[in-house]
Amino acid sequence: MKTTILILFLAVTSLLNAQNQLLIPGTISGTDFDLTLQNGTYQFYSGINTATMGVNGDILGPTLIMNKGDEVNITVNNQLNDTTTIHWHGMHVSALNDGGPHTYILPGESWNPSFTVMDKAGTYWYHPHLHMKTNKHVSLGIAGFIIVRDEEEAALDLPRTYGVDDFPLAIQTKDFDENHQIVVPSNSDDVVMVNATIDANLNVPAQVVRFRLLNGTSQRDLNIGLTGNETFYQIGSDGGLLNEPVELTRLELPPGARAEILIDFSNMQGQTMYLMSYASEFQNGIYGATYPGMMTMMTLDGYNPNPINGTDFNLMKFTVVAPTGNPVTSIPGNLVTVTPIPEADADTTRNLTFTPETMGPNQLNGLFLINGVSFDMNVINYTIPLNNTEIWSITNQSAISHPFHIHDVQFFVLDRNGVPPPPGEQGRKDVILIKPQETVRFITKFEDFANDPVPYMYHCHMLVHEDGGMMGQFNVVDNSVGMDETKNSSESMSVFPNPAPGREVTVKLIQENAGILSYELYNIAGETVKRNTVDSDLSTINVDLKGVNSGVYFLKVYTEDKVFTGKIIKN
Ligand code: C2O
Ligand code: CU
Ligand code: CU
Repeated sequence: MKTTILILFLAVTSLLNAQNQLLIPGTISGTDFDLTLQNGTYQFYSGINTATMGVNGDILGPTLIMNKGDEVNITVNNQLNDTTTIHWHGMHVSALNDGGPHTYILPGESWNPSFTVMDKAGTYWYHPHLHMKTNKHVSLGIAGFIIVRDEEEAALDLPRTYGVDDFPLAIQTKDFDENHQIVVPSNSDDVVMVNATIDANLNVPAQVVRFRLLNGTSQRDLNIGLTGNETFYQIGSDGGLLNEPVELTRLELPPGARAEILIDFSNMQGQTMYLMSYASEFQNGIYGATYPGMMTMMTLDGYNPNPINGTDFNLMKFTVVAPTGNPVTSIPGNLVTVTPIPEADADTTRNLTFTPETMGPNQLNGLFLINGVSFDMNVINYTIPLNNTEIWSITNQSAISHPFHIHDVQFFVLDRNGVPPPPGEQGRKDVILIKPQETVRFITKFEDFANDPVPYMYHCHMLVHEDGGMMGQFNVVDNSVGMDETKNSSESMSVFPNPAPGREVTVKLIQENAGILSYELYNIAGETVKRNTVDSDLSTINVDLKGVNSGVYFLKVYTEDKVFTGKIIKN
């Protein structure tokens, strides 16, 4: 009896002290990236298999290291049983290469985007984006880092040896059921992990070390800090380096956002330190605070019993070991020159308002709307002229904070309720947390890519909200080519039958008498599979699908001065 108790005691204490070495994802560098999405099993808890999804492995995905200016070719092979998509979050690519919800990869199929890397050196990431399935696919494990390098960054005295003095840290919280399987969706995400490692330890050299933080949670805000309120330095935001390091003791990181930080471990050899989230300091009305709504009577199912809400908790541990040869030992004074777009340059201001679908105390468990509507795959919410500079003014009239994200561009925050942002929020960003009663204004320019048959997305990066329709879409249109891209293809062009079982479909322009001159059919990779001249004086034509494999296609129909876009599903 006594021995049992002793063994039990030893088992419990060793469990409490158990540290697992931090998983560091492998890398793929260069211009060709082969990614296979697969089902797997992973031992978050030793000896226990949890069903997961991963990229080229059982969990997470390799870190893709790209150089600015390179043309990269990516193959995404979907070996899951689910249709999905892969989106390059934060990167400036054409809508066809962006991997949004229109760019399906069916099970067993591949997608081959290719693009020139136009982004500044920074930390981006990739994740699935199928409408209503994003949370499931991300929570089960599909997420990876993209590190972009460029000459400007290479000239700085910064740590940049991956896995030695430069580490990606994907912070996530998940809910496991009694069989240790991941529960999605859930507001009981009480298991904290970094790079899929629970109770992670990382041995760090006694010098300046760089961390690329990603909030990869479904919906939880993080208030990053170190044990004992030690200082650290933010050097980068979502879209690259800041002008200069910002000395901090706290960094608020909403879902989807990234930050690069430096921690100076010099003279700390033999000591330990924790990376933490100081969630006790969150005001209510944030997922992660004691109460997720502004008023304490408002809550989410399963939220209140979750012990990590409103408390300070450890994310992972650093154990400081001997320095490397040639260590970086000081924090640089200056970094790069990032010049925000002046407010006076704006051509257009757009107002967006967040509201709950149902008002009242139970609103947090419901859906959220942007400008009163829910996401509709067939509705283009904004048509934006190419090279337009825009202010987006976003007001949150719901009781919970929402991390707003937009594709295609990086933006500069102008102000929060009229107050300019703190230095860490003055760089290029693609996610911004908008708190209840707050209006955040940012400015951005829509350059380079236009007239794609698929739109770009903007949405809340709480994946539960996004899947629930808190999302909209926009086209960027180049009017200088004489084309007037239509606002809403489902209202301006009809395709029938669709899905198309046979060898042709009929396409009819609605409210348009102009004759159709030609059409083009693209696959989801953006490759042209048919191009025909019709030269008809009719607004109804038959589109030939002979030899076209089953799948999803985009159709562009040209009249003399307009182009119409639509989607065809070939059975
Ligand atoms: Cu990180 Cu539209 O997503
Ligand atoms: Cu994105
Ligand atoms: Cu939201």
